[in-house]
Order: sequence, then C-alpha cells, then structure tokens
Amino acid sequence: MTRSFVFTNHKGGVGKSTSATNIALGMVNVLRRANATNCRVLIIDTDSQGHASLVTTGRKDYGADDSLYTVLMADRPNAPQTMINCIVPSQWDADLHVLPASPMLEGAERELMGVAGAPYRLADPLSKIAGQYAAVVIDTRPSFSLMTEMGLLAATDAIVPVEPRYLETVGLTSVIQKINDIREGWRHPNLRVSGLLVTKMDTRVRGHNHLLAELKAHPVLGKLLLGVIPANEAVSYAHRDHQSLFTYDPRASASKAYVQVVASLVRYMSQAGA
Ligand SMILES: Nc1ncnc2c1ncn2[C@@H]1O[C@H](COP(=O)(O)OP(=O)(O)OP(=O)(O)O)[C@@H](O)[C@H]1O
Ligand SMILES: [Mg+2]
Repeated sequence: MTRSFVFTNHKGGVGKSTSATNIALGMVNVLRRANATNCRVLIIDTDSQGHASLVTTGRKDYGADDSLYTVLMADRPNAPQTMINCIVPSQWDADLHVLPASPMLEGAERELMGVAGAPYRLADPLSKIAGQYAAVVIDTRPSFSLMTEMGLLAATDAIVPVEPRYLETVGLTSVIQKINDIREGWRHPNLRVSGLLVTKMDTRVRGHNHLLAELKAHPVLGKLLLGVIPANEAVSYAHRDHQSLFTYDPRASASKAYVQVVASLVRYMSQAGA
C-alpha cells in the first residue's frame, strides 16, 4: 500500500510546506539511488495560499480546470481521471509530481459545506491512483478546516511540524487529539501520527534547548520525535529561487537534517510493506 504523509499543524509558519516539499523530493532521490522500480512521489497541495505549488512548479495561479479544486468539483465517477489530468510534473524532478492548489479552494470549502461525502472528495479519487506512486505527500493550510480534514482523511500517516517555541504540550496535544478524532470519529482507523518534526531549531536559544529536552523526556510525545531541523537561512534563499534545499545547498544544515528524516521515512515505508 502506498503511504500518504499529511503535514499538518493549525499553527501558521511552522514549516509544513518547506518540510512537505523537500521531504517529497528527498524521497524521490533516495528511492532512485536504491534503484527502486517506482521512484515517483506526488505532492498534493490543499492550501489555497499555494506555497508548495509555487516553489515546486513556479506557479500558484491554478484555477477551475487544472487544480485540486477541479478534482473536488468533479462528478464522483470522473474524479480519479480528473485527478490524473490535473497532476503536473514539478520543476524540481521529473519523478516529483504535483496536484496544485488554487486560490479557488478558499471558496470550495463553502461550496462543499454540507454536501454529502464532501470530506472524502480527496481520499476517494486518491485511493484509485495512489498505487502509481511510491509515496504521497499532502500539504495543508494552517487551520482545522474542511480542506485539512480532507487531507487527513486521504492520509495514512500524519506528521506534525512544530517550532520549538510552540513545543508546549497543550498545543501539541490538541493537534494529536484532532488526528485521533479523525481516526476514531470518521472511521479512518489506519491514520496514525507517525512523527513530530521540530523545525527552526536554534541551539543558541536557551528556551529552544529546554523545550526540546522536555519533549524528548515526555513519555508519549518523546517517542514520536521524527527529527530536528535547524533554523537555517538557506531555507528562505531556496524559497526565493523556487529551488529545493538540496539543489540550493546540499551542505546546508537544514538539508542534512532533512536527509536524515527522509532516510527514516523511507525505512518506515519499506517496513510498512509499501
Ligand atoms: N528550518 C528553517 N529555517 C529557517 N527558516 C525556515 C525554516 N523552515 C521554514 N522557514 C521559513 O519559515 C516560513 C514559513 O515556512 P513554511 O511556509 O514552510 O511554513 P508553513 O507551516 O507551511 O506556513 P503556513 O502555515 O503559512 O502554510 C518561510 O518563510 C520559510 O522560509
Ligand atoms: Mg504552508
């Protein structure tokens, strides 16, 4: 089964899109080096801001005919084919594909509110085509909205990026509680929280070190720690140039940290029988 990783946190600016896009490309690279028969990875951008679409494809002005919005509005029987038609190759790698967001997704939430089966309008068509990919990576907007619920329902694994200053247990517990609600309340028993990803870590800030130490010592959350990405200005320069971190500077501290996270996710995928 192809694993789908959703990057989610209702806090804004914590590194969801940076992590989703770079980890997706990292997976392609690792699979290719391992001579995997299928190295293709799909990014699904569910955020109307379209940051993941912009950095990976150079555009975020997708619309009614060529975006995730098109898929959500399609008649159910046509939705898988519509999804295939709207997926574009990224500018980062021929094996990294993108189902782009659209500013119209903002309105889609209202248009679909109350429509029966609306929350499954991403999960259902994705389940038909996910097998074409080695992995799927879903970026979400900073809210618990219908779009985010759709992302969670389409995923097998949730990864929660979090900045050290938001590492307080209360906020994290509410994200994890939301994921558990989706699993239990929506009968999506396979969804699991597969990791917390600490981002923008600055070891010179005493509070960051303190919070990270507390997280590591926490009996439940400590076990979920997937990796620690340092605060690194290479990230903003790479964004500015619409490049991946690995292309912009493979030796940057954040690149090296993402490589480690990718390695453990690919290991996890092979153990999970993907
Ligand atoms: N490791 C890092 N070091 C320095 N800056 C970073 C790092 N990760 C992300 N950033 C910067 O932080 C900002 C937010 O990152 P990003 O867009 O990935 O967060 P997000 O959680 O997707 O935001 P949103 O909630 O708005 O979707 C960007 O300007 C990005 O360049
Ligand atoms: Mg984002």
